[in-house]
Amino acid sequence: MDNVTNEERYLTFALGKGRLASKTLELLEKIGITCEEMKDKDSRKLIFVNEEQKIKIFLAKGPDVPTYVEYGAADIGVVGSDTIMEENRRVYEVLDLGFGNCRMCVCGPAESKELLRHREMIRVASKYPKIAKDYFYNQKHQTVDIIKLNGSVELGPIVGLSDVIVDIVETGSTLRENGLEVLEEICPVSARMIVNQVSLKMEADRIKKLLQALKEKE
Ligand code: PRP
Repeated sequence: MDNVTNEERYLTFALGKGRLASKTLELLEKIGITCEEMKDKDSRKLIFVNEEQKIKIFLAKGPDVPTYVEYGAADIGVVGSDTIMEENRRVYEVLDLGFGNCRMCVCGPAESKELLRHREMIRVASKYPKIAKDYFYNQKHQTVDIIKLNGSVELGPIVGLSDVIVDIVETGSTLRENGLEVLEEICPVSARMIVNQVSLKMEADRIKKLLQALKEKE
């Protein structure tokens, strides 16, 4: 007989690697969720366990976080709303964590403003092809050629690959230093907590308590 109670089951967190992960760990620590093992910067371990609290935490590439959560490999994920929109996975978005704030924008050289205004057939480079497609096709009703890139997207207009880019802008310094500017704003972006649809029912009490504690820290 399975005698493992709900309280004894591990709650697994998937955190997007990079800027958001350290902020998320800080926040979790404030509400008493800690993982000492993770503080060892030299470690190549991928998953960290807090036996006492029955918590597991792993770091993954941002776009993979909603995948782990949809399939239940993680109960909870923390990732930017840009990634959640782009991946469009079946997960519940439960909380805006209030950090990682930036904007999803159409950017390019000032001259590209005219191309946007006249709804010309332009090339758009982006790490977010679905968001770019939805914005141009469904919201602006403009037919464009979307080119998927995996990073340093600002290169697109500089080297003549594309007329504009769709990307996140945080401080704006990458744009400024490369002679580009925000041409249109698509939507605000911030870090969100997502939950597996089954976990939200099976672990309702623990997740509710967690959300309550996080909200009180805001
Ligand atoms: C992100 C984004 C921009 C930059 C914006 O890239 O794609 O390039 O940050 O930030 P800023 O407005 O503060 O300059 P990231 O650093 O994640 O690297 P990547 O381009 O390789 O994806």
